[in-house]
Amino acid sequence: MKIEIGNQKPDHFTANWPGEYDVFSHFEFACGIPHPLFAITTIKENGKPNVCFGSWTSFTGDGGGYYAITSCMQRTHTYQNILRTKEFVINFLSKEYFDACVATIRHNDHDADEFEVGHFTIQESKTVASPRIEEAFLNIECSLQQTLDLSGNGRNATIIGKVNHIAMQEEYATGIDDKYGENGFMFNINSPKNLITGEGQASAVAVCKVALINEEG
Ligand SMILES: Cc1cc2nc3c(=O)[nH]c(=O)nc-3n(C[C@H](O)[C@H](O)[C@H](O)COP(=O)(O)O)c2cc1C
Repeated sequence: MKIEIGNQKPDHFTANWPGEYDVFSHFEFACGIPHPLFAITTIKENGKPNVCFGSWTSFTGDGGGYYAITSCMQRTHTYQNILRTKEFVINFLSKEYFDACVATIRHNDHDADEFEVGHFTIQESKTVASPRIEEAFLNIECSLQQTLDLSGNGRNATIIGKVNHIAMQEEYATGIDDKYGENGFMFNINSPKNLITGEGQASAVAVCKVALINEEG
């Protein structure tokens, strides 16, 4: 038997904090889809570097280009910085840096140098002015292509960035390797619900475990 859930939030999905279902769709907690975690780096209006921990994202493209489809709350510095500078860097860090990323949320003032807050090292990008995080095993430099307000609520923005350039740490550059293990991509598991009781507020971080390798490619 499958549990069916439609556009209406089920009554037994109680909010864990006020406004939870304004910020998040009930489908997010019902589906429980893991998303890769990363830090977006941009430059604030005062020239200080900004770090934003994020997870709503996907990548797609074809021979004509590769695109990051990411999503930011419109109230964030990151969204305002991207609108102003038309560029950003997506930095993939291993789970060792989870707490450092969270620190950049706690110390998020306009005047804060968020690289200092997270004890990150600035690395110059090749194609954009926004800095890379040196500690990240993968940096993806993007130019803004388009923004969309999918729900029309004025809360969230979908940001499409064209990938200009990437930099991968050597140890992670050999195919099916450390990227897909304990020290590779980390994933956000955002409060998946028990769909029967409506309970569940625990979040988690996951890493990949390679299950099948197709040697034939
Ligand atoms: C695990 C986790 C995942 C997050 N994912 C996102 C996200 O995908 N998009 C977003 O806008 N904020 C996300 N946030 C919240 C931002 O990191 C937070 O609002 C941050 O302070 C924004 O920084 P800024 O104002 O410097 O841009 C996430 C937070 C955590 C802890």
